[in-house]
Amino acid sequence: MKDIVLIGMPGCGKTTFGKKLAKSLGRKFYDADDVLEEREKRTIKSFFAESEDAFRNAETRTLKYLADLDGVVIATGGGAVLREENMKLFSENAHVIFLDRRPECILDSIVDDSRPLLADDKDRIYKLYEERIALYRKYADAIVDNNGSAEETYDALVRQWDILRDE
Ligand code: S3P
Repeated sequence: MKDIVLIGMPGCGKTTFGKKLAKSLGRKFYDADDVLEEREKRTIKSFFAESEDAFRNAETRTLKYLADLDGVVIATGGGAVLREENMKLFSENAHVIFLDRRPECILDSIVDDSRPLLADDKDRIYKLYEERIALYRKYADAIVDNNGSAEETYDALVRQWDILRDE
């Protein structure tokens, strides 16, 4: 059975909606950031304190582990699309869904956030969005807009999943 992989910006709702979808489909849910910290026995913050590259290497190791699981729902870290090798892991055996939330909506919902990439400068989210939007679109089998209500987003996600699983 194919995995369902959510990609998108930090704070776009991958974990929230991934958990909900997994529960309603009776599948296991994995948050790649949590799995990374558990498996590496080290925090994301500490990886970033060393270097972004150190973090990205750990992220690739984690995604390799997750890609081997069967039929699960995975919320990736927002930067998973930065390495082609990460996304290749999911090209055959996963439905990749891009959860698209505009930077201004993300900023509204991450007031107390501690993500290392945004720690010093929350407005960096606009730049990251610009840098990454083409990659999210490129790797997505489907795109779900998350700028409206949670109900609308969830309904759209389930609709997209219905289409993808029949393809
Ligand atoms: C990152 C996003 C984070 C986490 C790390 C780097 C990014 O995950 O993987 O801080 O590069 O966008 P979330 O998207 O779950 O916040």
